[in-house]
Amino acid sequence: MVALHYVNFKPKWAAQTERFFVFNDAYLTMHDTMYGSIKRESADWRVIKSLLPYLLQFKTRVAFALALLIAAKVSNVWVPITLKHIIDYLDATINSVTPTQAALMLPIGWLLTYGILRFSSVLFGELRDAIFGRVAERTVTTVGLNVFEHLHKLDLEFHLSRKTGGLSRDIERGTSGVRFLLRAVVFSIVPILLEVGMVIGILFIQFDILFAAITLTAIIVYILYSVWVTEWRTELVRTANQKDSQANARAIDSLLNFETVKYFNNEHYEYQRYALSLAEYEHSKVKNHLSLAALNIGQAFIISASILAIMFLASSHTLKGQMTLGDLAMINAFMIQVFIPLNALGFIYREIKRSLADTENLFSLLKIKPAISDKPNAHELAPTADGISFENVSFAYQTTRPILKDLSFTIAPGETVAIVGPSGSGKSTITRLLLRFYEAQHGNIKIGGQDIRDLTQDSVRSVLGVVPQEAVLFNDTLYENIRYGYPKASHEEIEHATTLSYLHTFIKALPDGYQTKVGERGLKVSGGEKQRIAIARTILKAPRIFIFDEATSSLDSASEQAILNALTSIAQNHTTLVIAHRLSTIVHSDRILVLKDGTIAEQGDHEALLQKKGVYAELWALQQMPEQC
Ligand SMILES: Nc1ncnc2c1ncn2[C@@H]1O[C@H](COP(=O)(O)OP(=O)(O)O)[C@@H](O)[C@H]1O
Ligand SMILES: [Mg+2]
Repeated sequence: MVALHYVNFKPKWAAQTERFFVFNDAYLTMHDTMYGSIKRESADWRVIKSLLPYLLQFKTRVAFALALLIAAKVSNVWVPITLKHIIDYLDATINSVTPTQAALMLPIGWLLTYGILRFSSVLFGELRDAIFGRVAERTVTTVGLNVFEHLHKLDLEFHLSRKTGGLSRDIERGTSGVRFLLRAVVFSIVPILLEVGMVIGILFIQFDILFAAITLTAIIVYILYSVWVTEWRTELVRTANQKDSQANARAIDSLLNFETVKYFNNEHYEYQRYALSLAEYEHSKVKNHLSLAALNIGQAFIISASILAIMFLASSHTLKGQMTLGDLAMINAFMIQVFIPLNALGFIYREIKRSLADTENLFSLLKIKPAISDKPNAHELAPTADGISFENVSFAYQTTRPILKDLSFTIAPGETVAIVGPSGSGKSTITRLLLRFYEAQHGNIKIGGQDIRDLTQDSVRSVLGVVPQEAVLFNDTLYENIRYGYPKASHEEIEHATTLSYLHTFIKALPDGYQTKVGERGLKVSGGEKQRIAIARTILKAPRIFIFDEATSSLDSASEQAILNALTSIAQNHTTLVIAHRLSTIVHSDRILVLKDGTIAEQGDHEALLQKKGVYAELWALQQMPEQC
């Protein structure tokens, strides 16, 4: 659930002058560890290593792509060599040929080779892209699915304290980071290194050693400079990304809470907070651009200076007769061929750094251990299991504030037990513990006589049917929302469930019937309708044990009574836990537990409890009053 983080709430006048972010801890810690520069290098390797298994699934494709890559680069390097031969041939023959002989004297072999080489370097490159594209995309899909699956495994507490907007941005950036890493390494780094190596080799073998030396020095200086400036820029890029996530989280949170914003006329306040987020983002982006310009200018200078030096040298060698015109043209072509992709290397290095950070961020999500996970030897709860017992259960969300204290109670198979108590006494917490959203610090919770810690979470949840206090719907049709309880349900089963939950008259009255869209989080249907949809959903699930957590609290007395009758008949053969605030709804329960200060203060049936003249009798008297006046 996404909630506004009003931790630092200040009056409006203060809000306008002060920075207002409340950044949750988990997020900050993650970003801190992720960008901490101390272990940067080893972290980069770890990310690359964690990508390898994905690649190794496609050994043949990867090998094939690499072979094509080499073929493309070899063709590419041969282009200037062919050019040299053409020029040298022309230079040698130009003075001894009459215009009529010209057509016969063309260096046809070299010209054709030149054309074919040019074409094949592109052809091989494209084939390599096509073959490797599948590998990269499949990896991105797999990583994305793994993260999604993992996020669903994490505990409620993680999700309650995350900002959905920031999380989705992290995933988005992480998956495109993976894509970039794979493509950049195979399509850019390896080819550039290969080409540079071949060109320097040729220069070294064929010409004055100075050519190879200048080129090599230029490349080294270029790379060192790029790395140095990029490292300096990383901090700026990181800040920009953080601001981006913040602004995004801010916007999504605000839009999700649209109604609340309106209730409190806080559009302007929201606008200002978003404007502040965006202003910070803008500021860091501008710095980012400026530093990029500095990087580009420096790189261009290194390239131009070294090409100038090489051309000076080549021209002088040509004049001295140590080199041919063809050699000069070839060296010039080589320089352009090497430095243009090298220019991209700066960008690629930067992007690789960024992608590594984003990917690591994504993988660090995968590393977060769920607070609650199945034991290695966990077994399945029998689908027929019934009966619940809490034995001396103590629980606190934060250690300083105990919620349940040494709580013990049992619900026999088939029994209907109600829990009543003041708001905040821990009634819903009991449900959450039973579902294992949280783990009790002390004591045992058993279903069908088995400790739930020894069971798989999946099997425990499959026998429990919960109608939560605040039902939330998916942004889909009514039909799909009901069917969610049992996706394989037939239309008849769905009709049956809607009848039992008194939804059919409501649905019939709707112009679009079952196909009505319920809106974001189900906000287009009323609270009572939402509760009835939640009930229908749970009926469809057909669990062994029902838990109704103030499931009828939003209904008017008439529909509440109708639904309660339906629930009673459903509950008849099932273990049922009814949590209620309004006591009139649970007077017929087999047993009533009164929860107060984290323990059971009283228990018994309605009559017995009234006679006790304790907490329950007091609550009852209080609730009767409004109806009397
Ligand atoms: N995730 C949480 N972290 C910290 N405190 C929580 C959390 N969820 C609930 N609480 C607190 O625990 C207490 C019991 O909550 P709950 O069981 O929902 O009460 P209720 O009896 O009204 O259903 C409340 O005071 C609530 O503020
Ligand atoms: Mg509650």
